[in-house]
Amino acid sequence: VGAIALGGVGTVGYLWADAKTDTAGKVDFDTPLAIPPLAEAEEDPSGARVFNLEIKAGTTPLKAGRETATWGINGNFLGPTIRAKRGQEVAFSVYNGLDEGTSLHWHGMHLPAVMDGGPHQEVEPGGDWTPQWTINQPAATLWYHPHPHGRTGNHVYRGLAGMFIVDDEESEALPLPKTYGVDDVPLIVQDRKFHDDNQFDDKSPFMSMQGVLGDHIMVNGTLGPYFDVTTRLVRLRLLNGSVSRLYNFGFADGRPFSLVATDGGLLPSAWETDRIQLSPGERVEIVVAFEPGETAVLRSHPADEGYEGPLGRVNGAEDLLDIIEFRAAGTLADDTAIPEAMGAAPDLDPADAVEERSFSLSGFSQINGESMDAGRIDFGVREGTVEVWEVSNADGYMHNFHVHDVQFQVVSVDGDEPPERLRGWKDTVQLVPKRKYRLAMRFADYTDPNLPYMYHCHILAHEDTGMMGQFVVLGEGEEIGAVPAPAHSH
Ligand code: C2O
Ligand code: CU
Ligand code: CU
Repeated sequence: VGAIALGGVGTVGYLWADAKTDTAGKVDFDTPLAIPPLAEAEEDPSGARVFNLEIKAGTTPLKAGRETATWGINGNFLGPTIRAKRGQEVAFSVYNGLDEGTSLHWHGMHLPAVMDGGPHQEVEPGGDWTPQWTINQPAATLWYHPHPHGRTGNHVYRGLAGMFIVDDEESEALPLPKTYGVDDVPLIVQDRKFHDDNQFDDKSPFMSMQGVLGDHIMVNGTLGPYFDVTTRLVRLRLLNGSVSRLYNFGFADGRPFSLVATDGGLLPSAWETDRIQLSPGERVEIVVAFEPGETAVLRSHPADEGYEGPLGRVNGAEDLLDIIEFRAAGTLADDTAIPEAMGAAPDLDPADAVEERSFSLSGFSQINGESMDAGRIDFGVREGTVEVWEVSNADGYMHNFHVHDVQFQVVSVDGDEPPERLRGWKDTVQLVPKRKYRLAMRFADYTDPNLPYMYHCHILAHEDTGMMGQFVVLGEGEEIGAVPAPAHSH
């Protein structure tokens, strides 16, 4: 079930990558795609929507034979989809039923640092954590995952991840497909490596600094998935939820599709393409058209922009992998459309920047020559101001760059206009070696001189070994404080 036949295995068996294919990995699409359930919420007396999330260990029947030990949220593997609307107040009760500390971080969310779920909000075993905030950003496909320092990759790999969909008045009024699980489908794409006894193998190959690269692709935790299409247009919310693998999504038959949203939300107008490359943590929404009765396979193709580092191509950039099969019914409902106008274009003016900073990622574990230190705040930004950050990949391996709390605008890549796929709001961007990415962002609303937000490479092996830094957002007249000693909540 779902095993990928490796075309060229052995011929390019370098030490730093262990899943190589030079022909399409053949997958038997024999399992219906699991759709993560929508998390239920109760309204508390203040009107906040309260979600109960319980993190726990379990087992999941993934392959024939022994069940796989997995972790999940309100279930044994992965987590429910959280859905909330702009303006709503959300409250969570996060219970840690594991026997080690973990956290839940709301990736892409604009919220106070104390609610962010990063390394400073670790929840001890048996403890719970109750963040609460008002959704204060445009409609977007976000996600959530643990962020305990040094163990994020391991916790995500075991199965802790879910989607967080934000809606707003404008998005609800658009004619885009929006029936969850029917024509608006989350696709959490992750790779896994298995031991012979069906247990996840999270060991990197000898000397690999890229983290583990799996040879089985799962979508929403399903190996070998197919999806029954019942509408002409289908909106796919694609999340690269892998710890280290790069995907270059495109259909086997080369059909075009419309990119309608990037990390931070809807684009001003759709962009037609046949490929969309996502590094770990990035999301897009695409709309695909189907003909009655046909089947179509979504693949990951060899990367358009390579990662020819000093030791060769990395992070699966050369692989051709089948991801999921779509099976269209004989008749398809046709009552949705891609509107001419959707979201707001990024509109920051780099000339307004009060501060420019530069970040150079290198050595798998360092930004500007330093590794993450939870007790060190690297810098403070002023609330209400625009900054421009120039970010580059200095060692030639694969890296990307993620900033908490904000969505940023890619102003330029090596001085040029960014490519189409980077023109929407983003919170994570791939760093092609040696290019300079200028990112504009505005820090607003929430300040705390002591509690930092993170910025880091989202190749989780790199984040975990220290390719991460911390910044605080300062109110007027505030100075950088001291990070409080981790206070475990319970
Ligand atoms: Cu998705 Cu700091 O992480
Ligand atoms: Cu994040
Ligand atoms: Cu990296």
